[in-house]
Amino acid sequence: MDSILVIRSSSTGAASVSNTLIDGLVARIAAEEPGVAIVEHDLDSAPVPHIRADALSGLGRGGPVTDAAHEARILSDKLIGEVKAARAIVIGAPMYNFGINSTLKSWFDHVLRAGETFQYTAAGPEGLVASKPVIVIETRAGVYSSGPMTAYDSQEPHLKAMLGFMGLTDVEFVRVEGLAMGEAEVKIAAAADALAGVGLGLAEAA
Ligand SMILES: Cc1cc2nc3c(=O)[nH]c(=O)nc-3n(C[C@H](O)[C@H](O)[C@H](O)COP(=O)(O)O)c2cc1C
Repeated sequence: MDSILVIRSSSTGAASVSNTLIDGLVARIAAEEPGVAIVEHDLDSAPVPHIRADALSGLGRGGPVTDAAHEARILSDKLIGEVKAARAIVIGAPMYNFGINSTLKSWFDHVLRAGETFQYTAAGPEGLVASKPVIVIETRAGVYSSGPMTAYDSQEPHLKAMLGFMGLTDVEFVRVEGLAMGEAEVKIAAAADALAGVGLGLAEAA
């Protein structure tokens, strides 16, 4: 079934800016294309476990074959299947201590799997996921896209690297930054406007 994958990772509940913006985008998708399935994960209420030694072999990295590894493989297969099946992907990515939060990182740790979403060839690494639009909503208290904190941004380059490693290079970052520096509502409204214009392949499928 035609689907759009939505990943939420905020821990701030009803106050979450990324979740609020995702709500608006999902409402737009539902209105424009009621037939599309929204496959959604809220990693705060239903986290993907952190990688542990007893689960590592399930993610193709060696180590003992355990029940935990079997469970990790089943979860990884499911999450990878969703990424591959989706027509487009929406990710909510709050900045925690200059990078993505560990909740979202755990999802990536289960999705980036050798032989499934990337592989190494003689020419170097190769992504195995077919190209599709990815929208990443980045929320931040400070400003990192310009000015003195630019070098502290370990969020956007990391996301770009992980997505690109799988072949997902059609990524649009919608930054909502400076949220603790005044006029947050104006910044959120500007991001909502930007999201209203992003392409999710809706027209192509119509
Ligand atoms: C644990 C934690 C760490 C944070 N670290 C940073 C940071 O390093 N830089 C920053 O600009 N904002 C930081 N923030 C602020 C969040 O990025 C900001 O509140 C953002 O709106 C969170 O996204 P959300 O509203 O979707 O939850 C941090 C927030 C939390 C809870």
